[in-house]
Amino acid sequence: MTISASMYRRADQVAFTVNAHLPEEYQAEILTEQLRAAKEVLAPRGLARRKVLVVGGAGYIGSVLTGKLLDAGYQVRCSDLLLYRNGVTVTPYLNHADYQFMKGDLADPAHLEKAFDGITDVVILAGLVGDPITKKYPEASGRINDDGILRLIDACNGRRLNRVIFVSTCSNYGLIPEDATADENFELTPLSLYAKSKVAAEQKLMALKGKVDYQPTVLRFATAFGLSPRMRFDLTVGEFTRAMFRAEDLLVYDAHTWRPYCHLKDFSEVIRRVIEAPPERVAFEVFNAGGDVNNATKQTIVDTIKAFLPAAPVRYQAHGADPRNYRVNFAKIKRVLHFEPAMTVRDGVAELLGALNQGLFSDVEVNKPFYGNYELAYP
Ligand SMILES: NC(=O)c1ccc[n+]([C@@H]2O[C@H](COP(=O)([O-])OP(=O)(O)OC[C@H]3O[C@@H](n4cnc5c(N)ncnc54)[C@H](O)[C@@H]3O)[C@@H](O)[C@H]2O)c1
Repeated sequence: MTISASMYRRADQVAFTVNAHLPEEYQAEILTEQLRAAKEVLAPRGLARRKVLVVGGAGYIGSVLTGKLLDAGYQVRCSDLLLYRNGVTVTPYLNHADYQFMKGDLADPAHLEKAFDGITDVVILAGLVGDPITKKYPEASGRINDDGILRLIDACNGRRLNRVIFVSTCSNYGLIPEDATADENFELTPLSLYAKSKVAAEQKLMALKGKVDYQPTVLRFATAFGLSPRMRFDLTVGEFTRAMFRAEDLLVYDAHTWRPYCHLKDFSEVIRRVIEAPPERVAFEVFNAGGDVNNATKQTIVDTIKAFLPAAPVRYQAHGADPRNYRVNFAKIKRVLHFEPAMTVRDGVAELLGALNQGLFSDVEVNKPFYGNYELAYP
C-alpha cells in the first residue's frame, strides 16, 4: 500500500506522527492501524487520543517511557506505589496536561478500578525488579509479582483494551550453553524468584487466547542502561561505570558471562512500536527486546569503560553468586517490528560519564534506597 496525503491528514486528526525511518510499507501499515484504532478504540469511547496506563511508571524504565509517550502525543496515566520513595521522578510531568499520576498498589483491586478508568492501552512494568530484592522480600514478592500481577492480568479483561504489554525479562533464559543464543522459543530456565514470577505471568497471558477480550504482547527485556529520573546503580553498566569513575576497587564476578543490554530510550521505542503495530504482528506474541549489537560479557563492559578511564582499578573473581549466562537472539523483533537499538553500551557509558563529570549522582551513598532496588518503602 502507498501512503497517501489523506491518510496523513486523517492520522493528524488523531495527533499521530509516524517514524520516518521505518520502511515505507511498514509506515503505511502503522498509519492504517492508527485509523483502525481511531475508529474502533477511540470513537466508541468518545476519545480523541489514546490514554496509556503505565503501571510502574515512576521507575527506572517507566519514568523515561512516560516522556517518550507524551512526546508521541499519547495521554499517560501512571500508577505506582513509589516503593523506593521515587515520587520525585514524576514531578516534572505533573503539570503536563496529558499526564496523571495515581499512587496505588497494583495488588489493590479498588486502586486498579480507578486506574483503569478511561484507559485504552496498558503497559505493565511494576513489580519488585531483580533477583536481590525478591530474595530479600519474598512475601512482598509473592503478594506483588505473583498474586498481584496475575490478578492485574485478569483485571485487564472486559475493558476492550487495545494493547496490553507485559514487560518480562531475558533473565527467564537463566543459564544457556556457551555456544547457543536464546530465541523466543528457547527453553526457559528461570533461576530466581524474580524470573520464576515473570515466567508464570507470561504463561498465564499466553494461555488466554480466545478467553479474553484483549490480545497481550510479552516483551522480554534485556538488562537496562541509560540515564533516568530514577537512576539505578544496581545494574551492571551503571554500577560499573560509577564505581570506575570513582576509582573504587571494583570486583567483577564471572567476567566471561554473557548478557544482553539495552538503553532506556530504545526500550521506550520498543513499547511505542508495539502500541502502534497492527495487531496481527503483536497479538499473543513474545519478543526478546534488545539488539545483537548489545550482547556483551562483563569483561566487554569493563573494557568499554576502561577506554574512557584507563587507570580505573578492577579485580576479577570466578564463581560469583549470580550464575546467569545467556546470549540472546533478537532476530524476531528486528524482522517483525523493524526494531534495532539506536544506542550501544558505549553510548550509555559516555552519557553517564558526562553526567558524573558534571557532579550529578553525588548523593548515591546518602540516598541509597532511591538509587537501586535495595530496600522497600512497603506499607
Ligand atoms: N531494569 C532492567 O534491567 C530490566 C531488565 C529486564 C526487565 N525489566 C522489567 O522492566 C520493568 C521495570 O523495571 P525498572 O528497572 O524500571 O524497575 P524499577 O524498580 O525502577 O521500577 C518498578 C516500579 O514499580 C513500582 N511498583 C512496585 N510494586 C508496585 C505495586 N505493587 N504497585 C504499583 N507500583 C509498584 C515501583 O515503585 C517502581 O517505581 C520490570 O517489569 C522489570 O522486570 C527491567
